[in-house]
Amino acid sequence: MTAEDTINDMRMRATKHLAEAGSREEIIAWERAFLGPKGELTLFLRRLASLPVDERPTAGRGGNALKTELTEAWNARHAALVAGDLEQRLATDAVDVTLPGRPPILGAAHPVSQMIDELSEIFALLGFQTVFGPEVETAHYNFDVLNIPKDHPARDVWDTFYVDLPGEIVLRTHTSPMQGRVMEQTQPPVRVVVPGRVYRYEAQDASHEWMLHQLEGLAVDRAITMADLKGTLSEMARQLFGSERRTRFRCDFFPFVEPGVDFAVDCAICGGAGCRVCKGSGWLEMGGAGMVHPNVLRAVGYDPDVYSGFAFGLGIERLTMMRSGVDDVRAFAGNDLRFLRQFARAA
Ligand code: DAH
Repeated sequence: MTAEDTINDMRMRATKHLAEAGSREEIIAWERAFLGPKGELTLFLRRLASLPVDERPTAGRGGNALKTELTEAWNARHAALVAGDLEQRLATDAVDVTLPGRPPILGAAHPVSQMIDELSEIFALLGFQTVFGPEVETAHYNFDVLNIPKDHPARDVWDTFYVDLPGEIVLRTHTSPMQGRVMEQTQPPVRVVVPGRVYRYEAQDASHEWMLHQLEGLAVDRAITMADLKGTLSEMARQLFGSERRTRFRCDFFPFVEPGVDFAVDCAICGGAGCRVCKGSGWLEMGGAGMVHPNVLRAVGYDPDVYSGFAFGLGIERLTMMRSGVDDVRAFAGNDLRFLRQFARAA
């Protein structure tokens, strides 16, 4: 076989194999087989010197021409394969940018926080400042200042979590202890509301939680009367439940007020006729209130002959339950997003 035959034979095989090579691996193997350092063509060119002198020029020219030819063919084939890969990737990995995106889930204020904000606004318009107090409280402010002395049976009304053994530190059982703290630090006129968490040592059920939120109200000045209390709470009830609402005040006992009342609003759901939400009574109990007891005024250094005041306490969860028809107080701290999302509204 002459050198020319060898070259032609190599060209035929190389061209055929390259045309058949369908993957990147295959054309790399092909390149190694023909053009690599130990490739067939490389070895052929290296052996030129051992050819008879008269064959060398043709063999050399032919071999080098083949090298150029094969290199170009390889480049073209490689480029085609890469382009094919890309096309395939574009086809399979395609992202349809016209599809609607997935909106991020926005958080929303908890229904209790929403109610606190709403109440703060209502009371701000009535001249009340919103202040906050400690949840870990002394028995002094939680009980003593509020006319609930040690050993007084009234203390049992609040099932208390004690933090220390002698029983001097408690988780506040109501927001009322801020009455004493605020009055000690300021002189009348006082007008504050105090939203916050309170704790009670209670078994849980649909209407009892061991942690809940209250909003305390306190107004002290010269000549504050029961009429101011009724007007303030009625206005609040109408802001919350609608301008048609009527309120009801009945005698009740709380050690820190005299007289004390519980107050209710006629049920907005049934208009007072009686329904599931008001349990057939036509009235929704909103909380306790009364005229600040002279003993409380005295305990903080106010002269009860000069000053008088009213105080009230609202259950925040209760208000939301009444307004939205929630029938289980445990839902508020239950962290079930399906419940909470019903209260979500645009910020
Ligand atoms: N602190 C009372 C409670 O948690 C509620 C209350 C009643 C607050 C009458 C008051 C009030 O300020 O005057 O049961």
